[in-house]
Amino acid sequence: MSRIFINYRRQDSEGYVGRVYDTLLQHFARGDIFMDVDSLKPGVDFVEALESAVAACDVLLAVIGPHWLSASDDAGNRRLDQWNDFVRIEIASALKQKKLVIPVLVGRATMPQAEHLPDALAELVRRNAIEVSHQRFGFDMERLIETIKGTLSAKVPPPTEAGPARQKDVLYKALRDDLVNATTSPLYAVRTENRYFPVLGEGSLDARIMFIGESPGKTEAAQGKPFCGPSGEVLDEMLQSIKLKREDVYLTNLVLDHPGAKREPTPEEITYYVPFVDRLIDIIQPAIIATLGRFAMQYIFRKLNLPEQRETITRIHGKLIKTRLHYGEIHIVPLFHPAVVLYTASQKEVLKQDFVKLTLFM
Ligand code: URA
Repeated sequence: MSRIFINYRRQDSEGYVGRVYDTLLQHFARGDIFMDVDSLKPGVDFVEALESAVAACDVLLAVIGPHWLSASDDAGNRRLDQWNDFVRIEIASALKQKKLVIPVLVGRATMPQAEHLPDALAELVRRNAIEVSHQRFGFDMERLIETIKGTLSAKVPPPTEAGPARQKDVLYKALRDDLVNATTSPLYAVRTENRYFPVLGEGSLDARIMFIGESPGKTEAAQGKPFCGPSGEVLDEMLQSIKLKREDVYLTNLVLDHPGAKREPTPEEITYYVPFVDRLIDIIQPAIIATLGRFAMQYIFRKLNLPEQRETITRIHGKLIKTRLHYGEIHIVPLFHPAVVLYTASQKEVLKQDFVKLTLFM
């Protein structure tokens, strides 16, 4: 589980922090981003409480605006010098605990110099900063998010009794557990009322090609397996046509629970599940993401901020789009959803021809 702690001073960077938080929400689960430690009960040692909140996180974003260094109280004393300043306590605690601390410079702030910092924070100057400006917000945030994800996915997992577990397997298991426990999902009631399974996906965690469909149908939810109904039959035929087996690739969807009816996913459902899909991408690190249908295509285009965002699937299907993710070069290949063949048989040839494009990378 990757937890992110946002440390900031309201008067200094409030205009930015809300935007940063909203953007992080598109990539990480709401419950994994902490901004304000909840009000503390009377009698609680607040230094200890802040330190434990920081201990529960993997990354601390220290948001530094133009008044971060100089902000002072009514008596003119600099806040950073006060022992009970929460900004100071949280950063010092993260540094002491050897957490990943990323200074995030906003409002044209520059990195403070060590001699202007209290001793407890001096080490901060050695942490590489990322600048986030309103003008280049999307681009800067993409860099920040890739840095967070890259660092988190590089973390070495603890060895298990059975020997050192593969990092991918550990992360995958944690992801599966989180999906099973996704009680806040807008589709959780549908899952439990119908005794459906969530459908994380299937295939090789070392696959070079990852397919992302739309949402599991009834058959898939009853078995907890993606693409095992009529669309799956079409998909299997397409894979066979390019001599691939299911075990060679990874299959998943944009929405990971059956919506309860044959319908398009809602924006709320997509927003809920994409942090899971992002984590899958980070674990598998595919060389190719083949999107099946327009919803997965639109999400991946938006995630990667591709210039093709305004394109329709009718115009762009079968194109190879070269771009980068934090782990390296990647190609996006937008494909029609296999279900189109069930409605329009003549589309089978089109889909087959598009699948041939994938062989360029095999
Ligand atoms: N359609 C999808 O998009 N995904 C499945 O898993 C099955 C049908």
